[in-house]
Amino acid sequence: MPPKRFQRIEKTWDEYWAEYWRIRLVQEDEVVAWKNQQVVDFSTKMLDIKPGMRILDLGCGAGFQANLFAENGILVHGIDISPPLIKHAAAIAKKKKLSATFAVGNMHDFTVKEPYDRVLILGMSFGFGTDEENEATLRNVFTAVKPGGQILLTGQHPYSASTHTGPEWVETNDGFLVHHGEFDPITCRLGGMWELVRPDGTVITEGDNPESDGIRCYSVPELARMLLDVGFNHPRFFGSWMLPPTELQWFSTEMITVAERPALASASKTKRVRKV
Ligand SMILES: C[S@@+](CC[C@H](N)C(=O)[O-])C[C@H]1O[C@@H](n2cnc3c(N)ncnc32)[C@H](O)[C@@H]1O
Repeated sequence: MPPKRFQRIEKTWDEYWAEYWRIRLVQEDEVVAWKNQQVVDFSTKMLDIKPGMRILDLGCGAGFQANLFAENGILVHGIDISPPLIKHAAAIAKKKKLSATFAVGNMHDFTVKEPYDRVLILGMSFGFGTDEENEATLRNVFTAVKPGGQILLTGQHPYSASTHTGPEWVETNDGFLVHHGEFDPITCRLGGMWELVRPDGTVITEGDNPESDGIRCYSVPELARMLLDVGFNHPRFFGSWMLPPTELQWFSTEMITVAERPALASASKTKRVRKV
């Protein structure tokens, strides 16, 4: 047999990769479904999320976690930059008769009509922008959460970024998924390129996508400073979705940040005492 010729085809996030990554791979991997449940359980416990609360899920992907929250009686709104993912999320909510709503939007630049009880950025979705865009995201999140409300966001921390560098591959139902990971210590960004090598010899490469410039890996002091500057209180950092919560370690695979928007001072506290 003559050697197989590989034909490279470049596809954008919305054309191919969003659906492949966030729907097809998730559906074929039972571990992801188990992990999504863990994420929902951890967030519910840590942010004291109760039925009837309104929560915003930014970068919600195909809505797997948002729809799980909705199954628990939470009023969820999911925003993602990718139209095919939002379409999928809304279709699942409709099929399961859930109250979750979804819209296409950009976390660097969005407004809400009425602030939410809680705001979440799950699945390492914080940090894909430039530093200015990521700071804008935090300012938007601050206005999107009620005073006294809480936020939970996940990103990639720099201490374990090196474990994602170099070539690695995984066999999937559609072929071999190959990753060429790179961590730039100067910009502190973890990036790289994914390719899918299909059995018929076609190689799907990554075209334009919202994660092309990699993820900015903020250290704990950097992120804590950014959150405090925006006005949040008590940033805390955890290293796993397991309960009881475990503090972030240098080798942790997750970096989960929880913080609070301060409550408004009550009227009685702010009342001035008239001097006599
Ligand atoms: C790593 S995925 C996580 C998806 C989902 N939160 C989860 O945990 O399964 C990151 C998601 O962020 C979305 N995204 C990337 N940049 C975005 C932006 N600027 N605004 C809104 N969504 C964005 C992508 O389309 C993708 O669905």
